[in-house]
Amino acid sequence: MVCCGVNPALTAHSCFFTGRSARLRLRHIFRPLLRSEQFSRRLFRTACSSQPESRSSDSSNKFFLTTPLYYVNAAPHMGSAYTTIAADAIARYHRLRQKQVTFVTGTDEHGEKIAESARAKGVEPQQHCDGIVDSFKALWEQLDIQYDVFIRTTEEKHQAVVNEILQRVDQQGDIYRANYEGWYCVGCEQYKDDGEMEANHVCPLHKAPCVQRKEDNFFFRLSRYQQQIQDLIEKNPSFVQPASRRNEVLGWVRDGLRDFSISRAAVAWGFPMPQDSAQTVYVWFDALLGYASALLPPGEAASSENLQKRGWPANVHLVGKDILRFHAVYWPGMLMSAGLPLPEKIFAHGFLTKDGMKMGKSLGNILEPGPLVAAYGHDAVRFFFLKEVIFGQDGDFQEERFRNIVNAYLANTLGNLVNRCLGLLKKNCDSTFPADAASLDASHPLRLAAAAEVAKVAAAYEACALHEAADGAMAVAVRANKFVDESAPWTSFKKGSQEDKETAAQVLLAALEAARIASVMLSPITPATSGRISAQLGFSDEDPACNTWEGTAWGGIRKGQQVPAPQPVFARIECDFVTAPAGKAAAKQAAVPA
Ligand code: MSP
Repeated sequence: MVCCGVNPALTAHSCFFTGRSARLRLRHIFRPLLRSEQFSRRLFRTACSSQPESRSSDSSNKFFLTTPLYYVNAAPHMGSAYTTIAADAIARYHRLRQKQVTFVTGTDEHGEKIAESARAKGVEPQQHCDGIVDSFKALWEQLDIQYDVFIRTTEEKHQAVVNEILQRVDQQGDIYRANYEGWYCVGCEQYKDDGEMEANHVCPLHKAPCVQRKEDNFFFRLSRYQQQIQDLIEKNPSFVQPASRRNEVLGWVRDGLRDFSISRAAVAWGFPMPQDSAQTVYVWFDALLGYASALLPPGEAASSENLQKRGWPANVHLVGKDILRFHAVYWPGMLMSAGLPLPEKIFAHGFLTKDGMKMGKSLGNILEPGPLVAAYGHDAVRFFFLKEVIFGQDGDFQEERFRNIVNAYLANTLGNLVNRCLGLLKKNCDSTFPADAASLDASHPLRLAAAAEVAKVAAAYEACALHEAADGAMAVAVRANKFVDESAPWTSFKKGSQEDKETAAQVLLAALEAARIASVMLSPITPATSGRISAQLGFSDEDPACNTWEGTAWGGIRKGQQVPAPQPVFARIECDFVTAPAGKAAAKQAAVPA
């Protein structure tokens, strides 16, 4: 894949070089390559409606991840943005790792719920979808989301994939016709069993009554895959993550899988079933296949071979816990029937809540991301939700707490570390680093602290534990601030001997090298702030010391490297609140780092 991965030459060569001198050679050799790579990546993202190019066979170097395809019944809210921010951070981490990343997002545009929204507005469904899709794309831009492919389920090429898969599944004998009677939640677009509803057939997620439906439908023979799906989940502990969710899925599967209806007789807004055009394809069967259509150019068959050439299967499908059953049970069943490779992992995150209730369009209790980003910037929003909400669990938003956290970590810890050290470097060292960071002792406390955290942060990103990744990066900045406080280089510069001054300059070098490493580790979460830190430290934005994971090794700052005039890398939040003020109790919970 040319556009969104790293030049294979880079990865191949990097195997032959190790250690610091090798990094320097690499930097020299590959800077032009990296530059052109980034340029093409940028170009690709600007187009952002294409699919990845077919690539060579090295499947270990690819990374394909998806967000759910969002319903377009209404504009996106913070809950929908949450999955996408998380996916973007994971994608950016794997790009730092020089993987060939394909990050797919998009919209789920069919079904009753969307048709109803269009009807309420008095417009055609397609026109309604087009408008909402624009608002999703605009929000992703506002949040600096670097997706590679945006798939819409109303695209023609997607219909071809849906038809092809339906036919393959049919040929397997996995589709049959039957009558069905049950309780349907339009919000979930799903029939609900008795145990899945509250009293009076109320959906616990949407707090609205389900409706009784009786239909003649096509069914997918999920029950046939009972053993295979059970084996998949029992034998692969990492298939469903986190572990608590895996147990939930195991419970559903062990209870026995029932066939599910994959067509709707009463819903006109959908693709006609190839088996009977009077019925439309069930919106979930349609939407899940969007992950495949996203990878394929129009006209290319959804064969296992074609898909694998383009990055299939997904390394991670990121989903909210409400749609785990579809991804961890129905989706593997569909893929088994269609003869397509299964994803490596389904990671289910929790809900963002407001007043303890899932925030959602149907409930009307949404938090608008637009004003938050406009007031505080995308890095603040990305940082707060990824650091403060344990990825996998629910988390509540209160603006006062949000401001306290962002100020405490991005402004007072990381920002202040960089700015005070750069101020001292300007005043006392002519804005020039006195030595290579690599020349500092291998047992330097900041060097040791950084190395320990880099390993933990890498493991955290690999495991989608984004909160731990943010914590680990911040721990390095906290440690560096402490080191500067204890060393008090300002005193040595003022009244120390020449030797004291040299030691003080080395304190700044060590602290800023630690800040650089913290900033690279944090860059998947706070790309703009990290970019500003690199620039303030005198690096170009294409320097591998700042934009590859290799750059987290100690030794990026070089003797004689000059820094520009210090400017705050993250300004403290002092503007007015933009949502209803939160209670005082919330503010107290915000832990201010030492
Ligand atoms: N269209 C389906 C997905 C099809 S994927 C082939 C859908 N769409 S959705 O718009 O309702 O939800 C998309 C994602 O947003 C889900 O992962 C859902 O969990 C997430 N969120 C919606 N509200 C949320 C919160 N309040 N908090 C966190 N995420 C939530 O389901």
